[in-house]
Formats: sequence, structure tokens, C-alpha cells
Amino acid sequence: MIETRPVAASLAELAEREGDPTSTVYQRLFARSPEMEALFINDVRGAARGEMLAVVFETLLDLESTGHYAPNMIRAEVVNHENIGVPPKVFASFFPVVMETVRDKLGDAWTAETQAAWDRLLGELDALVKVRSKV
Ligand code: HEM
Repeated sequence: MIETRPVAASLAELAEREGDPTSTVYQRLFARSPEMEALFINDVRGAARGEMLAVVFETLLDLESTGHYAPNMIRAEVVNHENIGVPPKVFASFFPVVMETVRDKLGDAWTAETQAAWDRLLGELDALVKVRSKV
């Protein structure tokens, strides 16, 4: 475990336990926001879903370390996603969906420190989405 980066450590642990978590993450997303599933209608093989999740992981890892990349990524993608029908609030909800997926999978390995680190990051992400969105 990388002690100073609990979010990164939890994502590494998820990868170790689950391999590719793409389908679990999107199942959780579509349970919460069923109207979003139709947007992926052309993503027959799940490539866009996998690519998007990889970018979300990079965003989380960056924000927990240098933060050089995440704010610009969020700024660009909030606008891109609004244009394809994803409201900023729903866009922001993707991050807690990832957190809940990791938490479920980690079970007892999910500590108070892990939760606190995720909460901090989710707060920052919410603020970034609010600043970047038009509404
Ligand atoms: C519930 C929230 C979200 C939904 C429903 C959603 C939906 C989508 C869809 C449907 C596509 C495929 C577009 C296409 O090529 O036809 C896509 C692509 C993409 N998404 Fe998301 N997205 C969400 C959240 C996010 C978040 C939080 C990020 C990153 C911070 C992100 C980053 C990307 C990226 C990088 C792509 C690839 C192409 C592009 O730049 O648009 N998405 N998303």
C-alpha cells in the first residue's frame, strides 16, 4: 500500500481483486442513472466505456498527486458531456459511483483513512465541476 496516496492504493487493490472493473462500475451507474445507458448505444463492444473509465482513474490519480492534469480534463469534459446530454450533476456523480464500487470490492481493506481520502477528492471534484459548468 502507498500510505500517502490512499485513493491510488485503493484503486490498485481493486485492480488486483477484480482485474477489469468496467462492467461493475457501469452497472452501478446505470442503476443510479438509467437514462444514461442509451448514450452508450453505439458502444457495442464497450471500448468507449473502458476508455472513459481509464481517463477517470487518471484524473483521480492526478488529483491526489500533482493536480496538473485533472482541472483541465474536467473543464473540457464537463462541456463535451453537456453537449452529448450528460448534465454536470450526473457527470459529477460518476466519481462517487467509482468510489462505491471500490469500497464494495475492498470490504475490510477499506479503512477510515481510505474513506477520508476519497471524501476529500470527491469534494474537490464537485467543486471543479461546479466551477467549470455553465449552470
Ligand atoms: C455519468 C457520467 C458520465 C456519462 C453518462 C458519460 C458518458 C459518456 C459517453 C456516452 C461517451 C462516449 C461518447 C462517444 O464517443 O460517443 C463518453 C466519452 C468520454 N467520457 Fe464520459 N461520461 C460521464 C462521465 C465522465 C467523466 C467523469 C469523465 C472524466 C473526467 C469522462 C470522460 C470521458 C472521456 C475522456 C471520453 C472519451 C471521448 C471524449 O473526450 O468525449 N466522462 N462519456
